Amino acid sequence: MSWNKKDLLDIESLTPGEITTVLDTARAFKAVGERAIKKVPALRGKTVVNLFVEPSTRTRISFELAEQRLSADIINFSAEASSFKKGETLKDTALNLQALNADFIVIRHSASGAPHFLARTLSARIINGGDGAHEHPTQALLDAFTIRERKRKIEGLNVTILGDILYSRVARSNIWALTKLGAKVTLCGPSTLVPKTFEQMDCRVTYSVDEALREADVIYLLRIQHERQRKTMFPGIGEYTSLFGLNKARLAKTKPDALIMHPGPINRGVEIDSEIADSDRSLILEQVTNGLAVRMAVLFLLNGGKGPHEVA
Ligand code: CP
Repeated sequence: MSWNKKDLLDIESLTPGEITTVLDTARAFKAVGERAIKKVPALRGKTVVNLFVEPSTRTRISFELAEQRLSADIINFSAEASSFKKGETLKDTALNLQALNADFIVIRHSASGAPHFLARTLSARIINGGDGAHEHPTQALLDAFTIRERKRKIEGLNVTILGDILYSRVARSNIWALTKLGAKVTLCGPSTLVPKTFEQMDCRVTYSVDEALREADVIYLLRIQHERQRKTMFPGIGEYTSLFGLNKARLAKTKPDALIMHPGPINRGVEIDSEIADSDRSLILEQVTNGLAVRMAVLFLLNGGKGPHEVA
């Protein structure tokens, strides 16, 4: 299937075919990244603004590297050093970026829907780099890419997402992506952070961590999103770790080939035992590596590329 969307705002509005086109194009770009000369001219003459109004390490750096590899001109916008500090609105900031002929804006913002607002307001192509607790589409795409590369399929796999689901944009995007691609998704965590209403997204909710982990082909851990919680949702970090943290005893009861994933940043010793995070079972850094190819694919497709066959 060829790509014809102007923006990448979420996974919810993508078809399984569009998701697969991104993954196949990313596979082609991963092969480009293994060549001696890793740079291609696909975005030569195009200007990309990285508008990060919330902190980021992985997403910001991998978008910037993807843009460099595609030969784009890049502007890194720091909210702290901008006229946001003087009260300028997101709309006016974005209109100024458009007045400078920005072709793409990658936005991370604490407000859910901020990328959708820009997409309605601007002719520039908008990529959601994470909006509040809503969605983080490129994270889900790189996660699906990583699972498919390791397991050779996604359909029929049991994927358990464990942790703070309620406040997680990563969880929402992954639920959309994985269920659209035919995985069976189980959600687990404290009942205050995993409401039963998530079952409406075609996944299963359980509060038994042993049950959630036993049949999992992929164990996807999430950190507690303290920055988005307005009140204490569970008694304490120590209690969370003892009830839901992935430790050696719990790992011993999982399938021996179950993949362990986490979007980062990780809290060692809280949701994941430090040794497990560094073990061969963990794909945490492989996810980061794959994020580069996936973000190159997204930029390439939004620029008019039709699919993997066009990646030389
Ligand atoms: N996974 C992720 O979005 O990490 P950053 O917040 O560091 O970008």
